[in-house]
Amino acid sequence: MNTTLSIIKADIGSIGGHIKPSQRLMERVREYLKTKGGDLFTDCRVSSTGDDVAILFSHHQGTLNEEIHKLAWDTFIEGTEVAKEQGLYGAGQDLLKDAFSGNVKGMGPAVAELEFEERPNEPFLFFAADKTDPGAYNLPLFLSFADPMHNSGLILSPKMSKGFRFVIMDVSYVQGDRVIELNTPEEIYDIAALLRDNERFVVESIYSRETGDQAVSVSTTRLHNIAGKYTGKDDPVMLVRVQGGFPATGEVLSPYNIGHFVAGFMRGSHNGPLMPVKKNSTISYFDGPPVVTCQAFCVHAGKLTESVDVFDHPYWDWVRNEVSRKATELRRQGFSGPAMLPYSELEYGGIVEKMKKLDKKFQVREK
Ligand code: F6R
Ligand code: MG
Ligand code: MG
Repeated sequence: MNTTLSIIKADIGSIGGHIKPSQRLMERVREYLKTKGGDLFTDCRVSSTGDDVAILFSHHQGTLNEEIHKLAWDTFIEGTEVAKEQGLYGAGQDLLKDAFSGNVKGMGPAVAELEFEERPNEPFLFFAADKTDPGAYNLPLFLSFADPMHNSGLILSPKMSKGFRFVIMDVSYVQGDRVIELNTPEEIYDIAALLRDNERFVVESIYSRETGDQAVSVSTTRLHNIAGKYTGKDDPVMLVRVQGGFPATGEVLSPYNIGHFVAGFMRGSHNGPLMPVKKNSTISYFDGPPVVTCQAFCVHAGKLTESVDVFDHPYWDWVRNEVSRKATELRRQGFSGPAMLPYSELEYGGIVEKMKKLDKKFQVREK
């Protein structure tokens, strides 16, 4: 019987701005899953990253399962009730539709799912990022699956020598899922040409070419495509199977020492370096910086082990200091040039009105 891992994540309200959900909200979410879940799933974990609540389910129902998705949706509705009772900021923010229909894709919450036949040992990583969008994972995924500078297994392990198949989505296309499949190592320049543009082209999944097994699933939601207006950045989640024919855990983590600049940060309208932080970390400086958490698990017969918080290690303290330095450096130039996102990516409609008004005031001088 196949095992399915499903992460379903939403921002349903926070204390003190877009910072962190309350303990009472988290407790209600856990309680609701326990009482309403029945035997629908074999295991589940609830965690927060910044202002987002993520439910990780392990189950045997397959991906895009209506009952699993409905349970997650109802749980977020329940959590929103607590957010309203407590007057939390942004209560129910990511629940963009009124009625549930089939699955939560396109309704606001982010989803990443993997279905597979369990290996005898099945280690995997669960990433969650806040104050950024799905393109944040593009560079780290490219480096850990296609670059021997980060993945020495590409040189050393015969199990990875055939490379990987990347499925990349054009997230600006809204009529359906517009995807392209490209193979490493032959097509790495084409992959890089697409992944350069984090706001348009996003890695959706990655497969081993040796076995055909899926290694990676990334949530690809673009909230502003659903809502048609600013509702916050998409704060993507990701599942990565590791070891054996996949990169080792440390090879997947390696690129996160770069603190590469990603879209998001204050008002979802800036660039900032991605900081790897400990589980349940909060948000602070300039509504950021953009953060990513990562928990390692093993799953066996659908049961999850306790998680290991992989960024909770002295090495990453040093990285966090470096990333803070990068964040401060870029913030020193405020609104100018690369500190802010291009016009099309600014998350508040107000600027459009402002530009319209200013446009009328322009005068053309005769030559
Ligand atoms: C970014 C984010 C925050 C808010 C900012 C203003 O994703 O959530 O930076 O954009 O705190 O929030 P509002 O517009 O809700 O007052
Ligand atoms: Mg938010
Ligand atoms: Mg968030």
